[in-house]
Amino acid sequence: MDLQLRDKTALVTGASMGIGKGIARVLAREGVDVAICARHKEGLDAAAEEIRRESGRRVLAIPADLTRREDAETFVKSAARQLGRIDILVNNAGSAPGGVLEALDEDAWMQGLQLKFMGYVRCLRAALPIMKTQGGGRVLNLIGNDGVKDSYWEIVPGACNAAGQNLTKALAGQYGRFNISFVAVNPGPVRTERWDGLVKAMARDMKLTYEQADQLAPRSIPLGRIAEVEEVANLCAYLASPLAHFVNGTMIEIDGGQQKPLMDAARG
Ligand SMILES: NC(=O)c1ccc[n+]([C@@H]2O[C@H](COP(=O)([O-])OP(=O)(O)OC[C@H]3O[C@@H](n4cnc5c(N)ncnc54)[C@H](OP(=O)(O)O)[C@@H]3O)[C@@H](O)[C@H]2O)c1
Repeated sequence: MDLQLRDKTALVTGASMGIGKGIARVLAREGVDVAICARHKEGLDAAAEEIRRESGRRVLAIPADLTRREDAETFVKSAARQLGRIDILVNNAGSAPGGVLEALDEDAWMQGLQLKFMGYVRCLRAALPIMKTQGGGRVLNLIGNDGVKDSYWEIVPGACNAAGQNLTKALAGQYGRFNISFVAVNPGPVRTERWDGLVKAMARDMKLTYEQADQLAPRSIPLGRIAEVEEVANLCAYLASPLAHFVNGTMIEIDGGQQKPLMDAARG
C-alpha cells in the first residue's frame, strides 16, 4: 500500500529514543522529512544521524525541553521555517510518574501534567496557526490506554492521558473546518528503553521480585506480551498518512486487548 507520505513534512517530539524515534524512523522511510526534538543534544543528534543515513531524508535535530513554553515555540517555528510547512505533528514526548495516591506528592502530579499534558498543549498552540495558514494538517497525540482503563498505580498518567484524549476530541471539533484532523493513539505497555525502569518501580512499590513484576504486563494482556516499538510506529505512519485523514476526533488503542489494570493482574 502506498501511504502517500512521500515529500510530506513531520514534527515528532521526544524522538531521540523509544516510540518517538520509531515513528520518526518509519515516517522517514516512507519519504517524509522530519524534525525531531528531545532535551539531550547528544542522543538527539545520534538518532537523527541514524535515521538520515537509513532513509536519505532530511532529519532536523532541534534540542528542546517541552516543559518550557519558549522551547516548544522555538522547536515548532524553527522546524516549520526549515522544512517549509508542517503536514504532520506527532506529540509524543511525555511521561508521568506511577504510584499510589499516598506515595505521590504535589510535585509528582505537576511533573506529569507539565510535560504529558502541557507539553502537548504548547506544541499545538505553536503549530495549529501554521497549519491553518497553510490550509490543513494532521495531528497525532501519543497518549496511553490508562486514560480510559483506570489503574490505581497509574493515576497520574491516567489523569494526564484522560485530559489529552479530551483535548484531542475537542480540537477536532474546532479545527475540522480548517482541514486539520486529530487522532489519539493509546498504547498499552511498549518495550522501550525505559521499560526496565518501570518494571523496577513496579517491583519496589508492589513488593515483588523483578521477574514477578516483569510478568505483570504480559499477564494483563490477552496476547501474552507487551508491544514492540515498531508495531506502534507502523500504526502511527498509517494514521499520519492522507489515507487516514478522515479518522478524526477519536482514539485508537494498541494494547493487545489489555483489560485488567496491572495491579489487578498482580493479585492474580
Ligand atoms: N512505553 C510505554 O509503555 C508507553 C505506554 C503508553 C503510552 N506511552 C506514551 O508514549 C510516548 C512515548 O513513550 P516512550 O516510552 O517511547 O518514552 P521514552 O522512551 O521515555 O522517550 C522519551 C523521549 O522524550 C524525550 N523527552 C523526555 N522529556 C522531555 C522533555 N521535557 N522535553 C522534550 N523531550 C523530552 C526523551 O529525550 P530526553 O530525555 O533527551 O529529553 C526521549 O527522546 C509517551 O507520551 C508515553 O507516555 C508509552
